Amino acid sequence: MTLRAVATGIGHYLPERVVPNSEFEAQIDTSDEWIRARTGIERRHFAAEGETTSQMAIKACEAALAHAGLSAADVDGVIVATSTPDLTFPSTATMVQHGLGMTQGFAFDVQAVCAGFIYALSTANAYILSGQAKRILVIGAETFSRILDWEDRGTCVLFGDGAGAVLLCAEESAGAATDRGVLAVDLHSDGQFRDLLYVDGGVSQTQTTGHLRMEGREVFRHAVEKLAETAHAALARSGNAAQDVDWIVPHQANLRIITRTAQKMGVDMDRVIVTVQDHGNTSAASIPLALSVGVARGQIKKGDLLVTEAIGGGLAWGAVVLRW
Ligand code: COA
Repeated sequence: MTLRAVATGIGHYLPERVVPNSEFEAQIDTSDEWIRARTGIERRHFAAEGETTSQMAIKACEAALAHAGLSAADVDGVIVATSTPDLTFPSTATMVQHGLGMTQGFAFDVQAVCAGFIYALSTANAYILSGQAKRILVIGAETFSRILDWEDRGTCVLFGDGAGAVLLCAEESAGAATDRGVLAVDLHSDGQFRDLLYVDGGVSQTQTTGHLRMEGREVFRHAVEKLAETAHAALARSGNAAQDVDWIVPHQANLRIITRTAQKMGVDMDRVIVTVQDHGNTSAASIPLALSVGVARGQIKKGDLLVTEAIGGGLAWGAVVLRW
């Protein structure tokens, strides 16, 4: 027998305001056609004035707990993946913990930009396998609309806001590739690429919040190369092969990246969860949002083998293989 971290609840929250591509046409030199053709994005949600990352995360957690049939009193850890925290400190996770009415357990943030949820899932898995925690809320929550340069057409049309949460619970399992739960993790980062995707402000360097800057074409090139590699590595480590995969649940940045990664993995697009058309790139929130939507649509079912993969600023990238 071995311990596994099994997803027993999932939920998400999207801000009310939906912004179609056409809204950008009046402000910058772009078009709905260009954005759809180059990215697959049709619309995204933007947080309301005053609506914070922690508020969205709390709503996603409440939905995940309801889905699991558990309450916040049953949880002993909260990990929030975000690059857009409410404040420099304390952590957004402690605000979520408090918002859920918890005084027990631990809470902290993980910052790996668009790969943040993969890193948070891997961290929560390690805590569960080591016996330090039994039930952890793993959240991806972002308000990227707060760090966009509205005059930079190469970036401002790509991102959106939202939050997704998964409840991971310790369960005794057989220790086989057919177990439910997290089966394998593969993580990487390489700081030599920091100038490809970064925010030009921060506490220590500028004492400002800053704006997102990106070399889109270069990030695209790295993404296509690295995502299939990391997904393959995690899959091999899990004792499964590409033909065993029921769903790829990729980071939702660009439909062309999603399609090419699936092609490289030899997985048909009808086995890929795609939400980028409705959410844009929500950074660390994108995978839990896609998981939640995939479950709600009836695509992802108990026992399905999932591969999640993401890349973002750092560069940081990785994949998690789990059976739902
Ligand atoms: N509307 C219209 N034209 C635009 C535009 C927009 N919103 N954004 C850029 N362009 C223009 C560029 O200025 C360029 O014009 P030029 O040839 O006159 O210089 C042209 O479109 C092609 O630009 P390029 O950057 O080569 O386009 P692309 O096909 O690489 O698409 C991205 C740009 C950003 C969509 C693409 O590079 C991408 O998705 N990269 C990865 C981004 C990503 O996923 N980042 C997050 C990872 S977590």
